[in-house]
Amino acid sequence: MMAEAQKDILKVAMPKGRIYKQASKLFREAGLPIPVDFDDTRKLIIELPEANMEFIMAKPVDVPTYVEYGVADIGIVGKDVLMEEDKDVYELLDLGIAKCRMSVIALPDWQPTIQPRVATKYPNVASAYFRERGQQVEVIKLNGSIELAPLIGLADRIVDMVETGQTLKENGLVEMESIFGITSRLIANRVSYRMKNDSIQSLCDRLQETIAAKA
Ligand code: PRP
Repeated sequence: MMAEAQKDILKVAMPKGRIYKQASKLFREAGLPIPVDFDDTRKLIIELPEANMEFIMAKPVDVPTYVEYGVADIGIVGKDVLMEEDKDVYELLDLGIAKCRMSVIALPDWQPTIQPRVATKYPNVASAYFRERGQQVEVIKLNGSIELAPLIGLADRIVDMVETGQTLKENGLVEMESIFGITSRLIANRVSYRMKNDSIQSLCDRLQETIAAKA
């Protein structure tokens, strides 16, 4: 009996940090009471027995990995991570939250250099972008505070996310080009999508209705 009930629990990989607040708000609006400030605690699993769900608090970049391996049935992840990671998962729904964009950024006096270097947290996205334009650049992978790179001479440009533009402004940088728009997506493991189709589809429908009602 117990094992049977366990089997049907829907496991959701939730990104900690900036997406969590908006994603948890959307879930609450859809009738799933997940805590507001859960990402402030160190607890990594939230159980929601009344909804037969379990939330796994993950580093955003790891969400597609958990979903691809099926340790989470579904997950919420930014389009930036999906573009960079290229995982074998279904993209079910655009949640329309955590809107921002991927951009090429430089100092205002940027000039083409003989050995161009680009710093980024998104080496695959950046390499593809410059390759498509026939530009040879050296891509340097960093893990955060990417805006430092042009300021201290590590790279002449960066490829990074821009949300409010505040980080650029405070560091005297300018956006040269926007590459693509970003919002958070609901993704699913391919096997879970078949095996737990009813619960995944009904969650998907609830979220979609909530999004539509807000539009
Ligand atoms: C992200 C991104 C930019 C900043 C953009 O960094 O890499 O630095 O947010 O947001 P804004 O346009 O609203 O200023 P994040 O805060 O995730 O931290 P990180 O620098 O450690 O990657």
